[in-house]
Amino acid sequence: MQRAPRAPVRATHEQLRQATNACRECPIGEHATQSVIGEGALRARLMLVGEQPGDQEDLQGRPFVGPAGRLLQRAFEELGWQREKLYLTNAVKHFKFQLRGKRRMHKTPGQREAQACLHWLEIEVQMVRPRALVALGATAARSLLGRPISVMQMRGQWIDSRFGPPMLVTLHPSALLRGDPLRRESTWDAWLRDLSAAASVLA
Ligand code: URA
Repeated sequence: MQRAPRAPVRATHEQLRQATNACRECPIGEHATQSVIGEGALRARLMLVGEQPGDQEDLQGRPFVGPAGRLLQRAFEELGWQREKLYLTNAVKHFKFQLRGKRRMHKTPGQREAQACLHWLEIEVQMVRPRALVALGATAARSLLGRPISVMQMRGQWIDSRFGPPMLVTLHPSALLRGDPLRRESTWDAWLRDLSAAASVLA
């Protein structure tokens, strides 16, 4: 596999965007519109990490601007958090999809792809130096921890991440979007409870 031009360890945000955009360390980048790196406060106390950009994120070049992002925004509003004071990013920087007719359907990135992207995530953590991380879902948790865990068992708990800052584990917003409509309210309340464990980091 072709090696990506590495961003300098003390990369600026723009250098990182360009370097990830050119990255072909795994096959996903070839088919995506562009890379999507994190955005938000470059000195944020809290960094939230999702899985990979979705269709909208791929087109706009920004993380969490589609349906999952809208749900996350609703949670921030209930928690009294301002998105621009956080740093939102993903474990994988390109959109992996499968074509169904003309629709690009999300495809979960494989472990090899997440592993190839890990150094970009590490640079973001070094750049922002957050006090804490939030892993949204299993892919983010695995990248931040270095081993797989059960999100349902570990949700709401703090674990030491491989990059230093402690990380809080919870569900990915897409899991709520896909969840049982009859349990929507209790699932939402439980998710907010998980996220609220990180409120002290922002205080
Ligand atoms: N899902 C993610 O994990 N990240 C995004 O940016 C959008 C959807």
